[in-house]
Amino acid sequence: MNCSSTIYVTENLSKAPAGDIRIHDVRHPNSNALNIIKNINYPSIYKNHLSTLLIDRYMIISRTKEIAKTIHSEYPHDEPLVIVCILKGSSPFFHCLCRELSELGHPYMIEFYRMKSYEGTESTGKVQQMQELPESVVARNVIIVEDIVDTGNTLTSFLPFIKKKRPKSCKICSLLVKRLTDDSDQGSSSNVVKELDLDDKFVGFSIPDAFVVGYGLDFNEMYRDLSDIWILSDVGIKVGGYGL
Ligand code: IMP
Ligand code: MG
Repeated sequence: MNCSSTIYVTENLSKAPAGDIRIHDVRHPNSNALNIIKNINYPSIYKNHLSTLLIDRYMIISRTKEIAKTIHSEYPHDEPLVIVCILKGSSPFFHCLCRELSELGHPYMIEFYRMKSYEGTESTGKVQQMQELPESVVARNVIIVEDIVDTGNTLTSFLPFIKKKRPKSCKICSLLVKRLTDDSDQGSSSNVVKELDLDDKFVGFSIPDAFVVGYGLDFNEMYRDLSDIWILSDVGIKVGGYGL
């Protein structure tokens, strides 16, 4: 199934003023409202490091529920899926997805795999693979869970590697896909995703080309602890994560 019709798209990016926290609603398909959200907690030491609340925890959970339902409807119920968590960033999304699949009674096995391609806010272009792939993927339906697809380098280097193990099938499930160009119209997937031929995939949200943190996503290992997804401010970028 092509999931692009259910990708949520964030629109009209502008920086939020200080004071009320504003969130960019995700358009699905016609709403582009900017809601004011109260009671969003985050560590006060991060205050000036965050500019815009892009996707809040409730949106993430409800979108993850939908993705789990789609997965449940697409895969057989009499054999376990192998769900591979690409560490560290995907971890919160991975656990949420697994929990939802458990709620649906869908059988699965879990694997964790460590890869790294980013230094600060830039992709290094070199993807470091830290370990051997598990044998559990052989002849099984595999879903690789990513936090975000940006340049696509990580997946481009990982997919041939996993295919060598001859899984029965292999799909990507990414919480976010970054649009490298902001020419998106009706919520279609980014150029990168098209190049990677990942149309047959599961995607939570298509976001603008900004550096985001929270819900597992980091900047030099900081901000993974945020419950929501934020755009990093210029101050945050300057402080560089390490500076706290
Ligand atoms: P890609 O290899 O360029 O597609 O980037 C994928 C990886 O880079 C993700 O798994 C993240 O770890 C990291 N990454 C890309 N964009 C962001 C971002 O905006 N914030 C935090 N991490 C990011
Ligand atoms: Mg990652």
